Amino acid sequence: MLDKLIRKKGGEAKAENEDRPVLDETVIPRHVAIIMDGNGRWAKKRSLPRIAGHHEGMKTVRKITREADRLGIKVLTLYAFSTENWKRPKPEVEFLMRLPEEFLGTYLPELVERNVRVRMIGDHEHLPPHTGRAITRAMEATADNDGLILNFAMNYGSRAEITEAVRSIAKAVAENRIGADEIDESMITGALMTAELPEPDLLIRTSGEVRLSNFMLWQLAYTEFWFTDTLWPDFDENRLQEAIAVYQARNRRYGGVDKEDTD
Ligand code: IPE
Ligand code: IPE
Ligand code: MG
Repeated sequence: MLDKLIRKKGGEAKAENEDRPVLDETVIPRHVAIIMDGNGRWAKKRSLPRIAGHHEGMKTVRKITREADRLGIKVLTLYAFSTENWKRPKPEVEFLMRLPEEFLGTYLPELVERNVRVRMIGDHEHLPPHTGRAITRAMEATADNDGLILNFAMNYGSRAEITEAVRSIAKAVAENRIGADEIDESMITGALMTAELPEPDLLIRTSGEVRLSNFMLWQLAYTEFWFTDTLWPDFDENRLQEAIAVYQARNRRYGGVDKEDTD
């Protein structure tokens, strides 16, 4: 039972109701990253076109952003479109490229009001201009906000990101700005698009797929993973809380050993 795993500060296991574990407010993950998957299957189950699933998934984005904010999560990264998703049928890609406008057109005032800062990782340059404009506008409108960072991974691929980082470091070496011996892990971390963000503490992937699909390969080195069969449009506050409850029961050792296990 989940609620048995979750202990409030005083050590007492409690649950507000069956679905909602009591979370330890002192161990809320700072950065939660989500691979939002299963929109197509959600639609197929209802004999709807795939794009209906993407549209429904947008409502989950709103719900989960609000809940992340309420829980005190600092960064929420949402994988919205991968560098491989261009392989999809053109009408589906075109629909997906319209979603940021629709989402931000509807919810930007709410995000501004909630002090949310919108950010983006991914190849911004090769997005259709209307998509890029919507995202730029949202980033500008929320640039001074210092609440939850809502980070969209859009036209994002981790291998492309790492390749670009290697290229920029190689250039610095070639131009004698740094020596090859100076290259270290923090330099690589700093050359990624996530340079200013903490590493994800918790990765969630919906829809039952258990793979990374080219998502944050460097950044997830010590992240806790949680997978659920729930399809993204069906994902909700309770499932997010469940994921965090499991996260809170995990023991992050980072390669070390627990104190009580030292000889
Ligand atoms: C996730 O849902 C959204 C994107 C990848 C853009 P999918 O569209 O991958 O849904 P499934 O995996 O086909 O069900
Ligand atoms: C990963 O989902 C990308 C996003 C959620 C944006 P996919 O549905 O594209 O991944 P695969 O094809 O199942 O690996
Ligand atoms: Mg998928």
